[in-house]
Amino acid sequence: MTKLKHLNHISFKIGLIFFVIMIDLEGFVIYFLHQNIVKERVKDEFNSLLVRSNSHRDVLEQYNDPDSIHRVAVMESKSDLIVIVLNGNKKSIIASRPLDRGMRNIISKPVGKITHKGKIIEKHWEDEKYIASVSPFKNGYVYMFKDTKQVQQLISQMNHHFWIAGLLAFGITLILIILLSRILARPLINMKVATKKIAKGDLSVEIPVYSKDELGQLAESIRTLAREWNHLREERSEFLASISHELRTPLTYIKGYADIARKNNCADNETYLNIIYEEAAKLSDMIQNLFDLAKMDRNSFQIQKQNFPLFQMLKQIEHKLSPAFQNKRIILTVKCHPSIQLIADPVRFEQVVINLLDNAYKYSEPHTNIFLTVKKADGAWKLIVQDHGKGIPEEDLPYIFERFYRVDKSRSRSFGGTGLGLAIVKEIVEAHNWHIHADSREGIGTTMEIRFQGGDIIEEAAARR
Ligand SMILES: Nc1ncnc2c1ncn2[C@@H]1O[C@H](COP(=O)(O)OP(=O)(O)OP(=O)(O)O)[C@@H](O)[C@H]1O
Ligand SMILES: [Mg+2]
Repeated sequence: MTKLKHLNHISFKIGLIFFVIMIDLEGFVIYFLHQNIVKERVKDEFNSLLVRSNSHRDVLEQYNDPDSIHRVAVMESKSDLIVIVLNGNKKSIIASRPLDRGMRNIISKPVGKITHKGKIIEKHWEDEKYIASVSPFKNGYVYMFKDTKQVQQLISQMNHHFWIAGLLAFGITLILIILLSRILARPLINMKVATKKIAKGDLSVEIPVYSKDELGQLAESIRTLAREWNHLREERSEFLASISHELRTPLTYIKGYADIARKNNCADNETYLNIIYEEAAKLSDMIQNLFDLAKMDRNSFQIQKQNFPLFQMLKQIEHKLSPAFQNKRIILTVKCHPSIQLIADPVRFEQVVINLLDNAYKYSEPHTNIFLTVKKADGAWKLIVQDHGKGIPEEDLPYIFERFYRVDKSRSRSFGGTGLGLAIVKEIVEAHNWHIHADSREGIGTTMEIRFQGGDIIEEAAARR
């Protein structure tokens, strides 16, 4: 099993592919070289044989007397070649060595068509005893022989060298490929080890980024993933801590007052029940908000966009909130052209506006003004909620859209806030591809501004006029 496991290693696979390719290439090159060199070498042997027999032939053509014939035979008797001079009837006149069966066989073969240049009459150096050439002259033929053992020896020596070269190439290739595949696979192996650790929850792993290529980018992505995951994990535990804290507070009230009401059967019970009711309502609101945020996190939150008249929608909201506003003597002024249409999810949009107005209302003193305005400014349509309330300190402003963030926990708690309203607003606004921005000065007031996406506001003819 463990042996087979190696077959799945990336370095093994890369190495095997390289190895097969390289060995094929090297094999082909060595084979091609070998064939050509052998061919050339053998050709050289044939040529030298023919040149030799032609040169004897030239001598015999010039001096065709017994002395010259004898000298030719004597000349070759010391060399590794054999010369035989035959007359026109193929009868041996002279031979530098006694004829054997191999020579006789060759001589007995018909010469066939032959020119003055002569020809190689026996080429089979691998199987026959001799290679041979023949050159014709006026009174006969000059045959030259060479023992094939010498040629075979030469070629086998060459083969031997080729084998050594081939084995060396094989060994070097193998070593190089093992090294190369390890170098190539190392970043991948590092990443595999790192991702395994990450999967087990160890997010402190460091993956070295060796290069800027795809492997480097992959390592960088895994690093980012680990960082993001770590961040999410921290956020999640913070979030859980906040939730449990937020749930515990109203539950403590509910439990405490229910206990008092249970024990004392007195007139104050109504007050306690009211407190219990309010805290239970807060809990239920918070759970609804958390549920909304959970849906947004899971991306199962879908906005269903449609056209609706904006002014009418804002008026409806104003109507819904008017009892509370009147109660606190706060004047809400809605400014919006009656004939513009908005493309948005009406339910979610209403949630956004109510949340913003609820904040403006909660954090404003009685007898102040709140403005809800829709207008075009700096080339974009905007919805602006402006109040003259307590305002938000500068240092808190960047965090007010975070979950459970409240400027002053005790102050917000007395207003019934859980710190989820603006987080929900932001999610909804971003799901519409809009943008939200808060501007505030402590003691002067707050302005919340939503910038709509280009095509989401439809100006009807009347609105443009
Ligand atoms: N118009 C405003 N004026 C002053 N402070 C504000 C205003 N709007 C938001 N804030 C501050 O920002 C914090 C976050 O607002 P957010 O709406 O998210 O929470 P909340 O109003 O406290 O609770 P929730 O909306 O969940 O009932 C608030 O607690 C408050 O301190
Ligand atoms: Mg709020």
